[in-house]
Amino acid sequence: MPFEFLHCSQDKSTNSAIQADPSAVPAHFEADVLVIFFESDGIRGSLVELDEATGGLLQQLHQQGEITGKPYECVSLYTPPGLACKQLLVVGIGSHNQVNAGVLYEASGAAARQLSCKPRATVGFLADGNWSNDQLEQAVAGATMGTSGQDLYRSEKQQIPFEKTVWLQAPVEVVQRGHIIGDGITLARRLVNMPADDLYPETFAEEAATIAGRVGLEIEIWDKARLERERCEALLAVARGSTRSPRIVLLHYKGPGCDNTSPKAAIVGKGVTFDSGGLSLKTPEGMLAMKCDMAGAAAALSAIAAIAALKIPVHVVAAVGLVENMTGGNAYKLGDVVTARSGTTIEIHNTDAEGRVVLADVLDVVADLNPECIIDAATLTGACMVALGRDIAGIFTNNQSYCDVFKNSARSVGERVWQLPMDKEFDSQISSNVADIKNVGDGRLGGAITAAKLLERFVRNIPWIHVDIAGPAFADKPRPSIAGGGTGSMVRSFVEFTKRIASNRE
Ligand code: BES
Ligand code: MN
Ligand code: ZN
Repeated sequence: MPFEFLHCSQDKSTNSAIQADPSAVPAHFEADVLVIFFESDGIRGSLVELDEATGGLLQQLHQQGEITGKPYECVSLYTPPGLACKQLLVVGIGSHNQVNAGVLYEASGAAARQLSCKPRATVGFLADGNWSNDQLEQAVAGATMGTSGQDLYRSEKQQIPFEKTVWLQAPVEVVQRGHIIGDGITLARRLVNMPADDLYPETFAEEAATIAGRVGLEIEIWDKARLERERCEALLAVARGSTRSPRIVLLHYKGPGCDNTSPKAAIVGKGVTFDSGGLSLKTPEGMLAMKCDMAGAAAALSAIAAIAALKIPVHVVAAVGLVENMTGGNAYKLGDVVTARSGTTIEIHNTDAEGRVVLADVLDVVADLNPECIIDAATLTGACMVALGRDIAGIFTNNQSYCDVFKNSARSVGERVWQLPMDKEFDSQISSNVADIKNVGDGRLGGAITAAKLLERFVRNIPWIHVDIAGPAFADKPRPSIAGGGTGSMVRSFVEFTKRIASNRE
């Protein structure tokens, strides 16, 4: 069955099997639980037959208002009459014309999350024949991802993956693809949820090497000596305050028939494994969740792993800049001027604006590889959260047509993004009195944009999209599919974007 790239000793939690049974009869399906998706406007599609088998029980409960079909409502019916399953879980997906991939991802995630509180041998999910393949793919991804949460360090696990998951009335290839994407999200979430004392640049690079081996990616790990030879002095400056040695990890994937091409895309991620703020120290509240500051790197690694496992016919590279931003005696200081790999000099006004300084060098490294476009994910600015809240990523570009492809990709998988302006007037805000640029704007206003403006200086003229995931990368409060912590933000959108540029789709 599917290519599972998460199976390793640390990942016992994800070794359940996922299968598809395109011709199963739902009423006869023997399982601990059968999950069905219920629209608020009532019974239709594959549920008609199932309802008939129960003697119209679903219809009746809907009329009584017990089952409303409201998004993510979960209603359990035990020993349902006429069905072979022991329990029926009815999960709401809202009204018929508002069902989309994002709703299905969240709904199946919610069902999986809820059911994973107890051990289950077999859980069936009934697909709807009216869903597009893309929608089914996201539903499967949600169900795959939903069974794991924040248990990494708990002696008693609160979530237990199902021994076997079966998607009824669903094509095998689509279920396999959804499972791979779900595995990618689970990987990104696990990396984000690992505390900074366990996941630091060196161990992140080891994780990347393990994953690369499993899916057949070529990997380059640049250690400190290599970074020095490459003159990555901006990244090295940020790393200096920490005892942890920095890394850049490059991953190369060449799909079928892509041997002598230049990369269609470079996927870049901010990998600050802990952001104390450096000498511009954060407050305890501001620092608490800063193990999540490598979520962009986790997304880049997980996306390219999924792209490889999916065997998408494309040449892509991923690059992550891994550092810890600390306050050690050798830490970079306010007023320092660092020379980035590109030769651009950056005056440091705030050591907490470190992500852009790290990415300056990583972007320059990938620009050398002549990719057709660059896309980066970074937990870059609190200002982006002020602008767009917790659930929406800010996007910034120097090329509107690539940006539109990305917007469409994100929309089709149900990840929310919103484009912010990159008007020229913002450029003057990062001009410095003593260097080419400074690492913050004037004051806090438009802070997400001035950060993006700094990155833009390092992508040369390559079409580029920057995704600020400071909000969506990490969930402080639970949502239906996730108890909290890392969300796997942008894994789905990056995979979808890559699919689209591989086939020149819009
Ligand atoms: N990693 C933070 C941004 C962040 C904040 C991510 C909250 C997730 C949640 C980034 O390195 C940072 O500290 N940015 C500063 C920039 C400022 C000093 C110009 C910020 O947003 O306060
Ligand atoms: Mn910072
Ligand atoms: Zn940061």
